[in-house]
Amino acid sequence: MKGIVLAGGYGSRLYPATKALSKQLLPVYDKPLVYFPLSVLMLAGIRDILLITTPEDKNTFQRLLGDGSNLGIRLEYTVQPSPDGLAQAFILGKDFIGDQDVCLILGDNIYYGNDLIRLLSSGVKHARENKKATIFGYYVEDPQRYGVLKFDSQGKAIAIEEKPKSSKSNYAVTGIYFYPNNVVKKASEVKPSKRGELEITSINKMYLSEGNLNIEIMGRGYTWFDTGTPDSLLEASTFIQAIEKRQGLKVACLEEIAYEMGYISKSELINLSKLINNIQFRQYLTKIAKYGREK
Ligand code: DAU
Repeated sequence: MKGIVLAGGYGSRLYPATKALSKQLLPVYDKPLVYFPLSVLMLAGIRDILLITTPEDKNTFQRLLGDGSNLGIRLEYTVQPSPDGLAQAFILGKDFIGDQDVCLILGDNIYYGNDLIRLLSSGVKHARENKKATIFGYYVEDPQRYGVLKFDSQGKAIAIEEKPKSSKSNYAVTGIYFYPNNVVKKASEVKPSKRGELEITSINKMYLSEGNLNIEIMGRGYTWFDTGTPDSLLEASTFIQAIEKRQGLKVACLEEIAYEMGYISKSELINLSKLINNIQFRQYLTKIAKYGREK
């Protein structure tokens, strides 16, 4: 399976913080926001990843992440000239996806939870074995800001609406989506919505109407943030800070995940740590190399 991180857009609700810097490069506590979705793809076992960004920001992302070889992954970059909708990721990524299944994650989404790897692997499995798409529903206070799920009396999802005026449930569709390869064809059939975007919800509706949409509920034990506003960015930072300080373990540390997933060896991790000029961070990676896989 291939992975796409969609990290374009204007970040207008974060202006002027985003005037000269992409939203997905802004810090969340101790690391750039894009590390969080990238770490989720890595945890899902996905090592071929396309990062889609704006023409202005592409070089900065490349400077930050390179070709991924130091993390045992392959990173490619392409640009989205203007933010014409999430479904455009599959049009821009057509050649990259080739004949594979694909997972799309939004570059401003943060996920945290104990059993996340199991939840992600169900998306990978449904695409590969059943040719089904998988999306994730999460209970929120303000569903009208999102794609919203509607359920029948048996609890079966029967509809998805994009930013409904009155929502039919509190379950928002989060920003990670697993699809079989036919998503590329489906994306080419999507027409712009009233707000002028190629909506991911249009694609999800196609899978739903065919009976090929698997919906997983991300329960209360998980945390999901989308970080589009100053408040949500600050809340996410505070959340990550609290966990990291309490445990002494980092969230979305790409080097650690690469090592834990077996993408890089212990000696590669140690070599990476030697290049880091932040002493605390270097010591953290040294500790992971020493004790990491024994946790
Ligand atoms: O966060 C989950 C929600 O994401 C879903 O519940 C919705 O169904 C889905 O449509 C989307 O909601 P928004 O339309 O509010 O997403 P937003 O415009 O905020 O874009 C999400 C991220 O993707 C944001 O970081 C900017 C980036 N983006 C957005 C668009 C439209 C791009 O890189 N390119 C784009 O064309």
